Amino acid sequence: MRTIDDRLAEYLDGLVPPVSGRLGDFQQSAYEEGLPIISRDVANFLSTMLVAKRPCNILEIGCAVGFSAALFAEFLPAGGKITTIDRYEYMINRAKQNFAELGIADKVSIIEECASVALPRLADSGAKFDFIFMDCGKGQYLRFLPYCLEMLASGGLLAADDVLQNGDIALEWAEITRRQRTTYKNMRDFLAAAMTLDGCFSSILPIGDGLLIVAKE
Ligand SMILES: C[S@@+](CC[C@H](N)C(=O)[O-])C[C@H]1O[C@@H](n2cnc3c(N)ncnc32)[C@H](O)[C@@H]1O
Repeated sequence: MRTIDDRLAEYLDGLVPPVSGRLGDFQQSAYEEGLPIISRDVANFLSTMLVAKRPCNILEIGCAVGFSAALFAEFLPAGGKITTIDRYEYMINRAKQNFAELGIADKVSIIEECASVALPRLADSGAKFDFIFMDCGKGQYLRFLPYCLEMLASGGLLAADDVLQNGDIALEWAEITRRQRTTYKNMRDFLAAAMTLDGCFSSILPIGDGLLIVAKE
């Protein structure tokens, strides 16, 4: 059986180069504050992908204080745009302040509402994105997937973070606490659906707490 044990994970983490400059300071202070931003290895992998892909139109579901959106902005071609959604006023205000301090406020639009309202409206408007990053409530990924797929351009990439639920995703049903069962089932159904999409190729990477990547033909 393949496994990434703690020792190997720690070794691999040690190989990830630090994010430099003001963005690196932002990342470090967010970790120190315990804010829910993407892990170092996920940030590194997404950077690798974005260098290769250079998406012009990015959608993020789950902005929090704006670290991942600010990372994406580093790779945005001239004229590119990031749209990020969050419903938590405290996080939105901090993200706005961070985007202003980093000088990227003109590249990022924040939709300040629940994604369950924003996504159908965006999809209805015919919006298309060449990179979509799902990083919101994990129990909601399954519900949001059809909207994301509709808005994902041909050749586009969708990434979803934290899909392995600290390894709990592999537990037997009886081992899951009642409280966790709905989220667990939604995530399992989400992964089963995302791995078998017509016209797409998908992989789940054991980095961070699990990162799903879907590429649309
Ligand atoms: C893990 S944090 C996002 C971290 C961010 N992507 C980063 O790495 O810098 C998740 C965020 O999703 C937001 N969120 C969760 N469910 C949401 C929903 N249904 N609609 C909008 N925002 C949501 C939360 O308010 C929270 O700020």
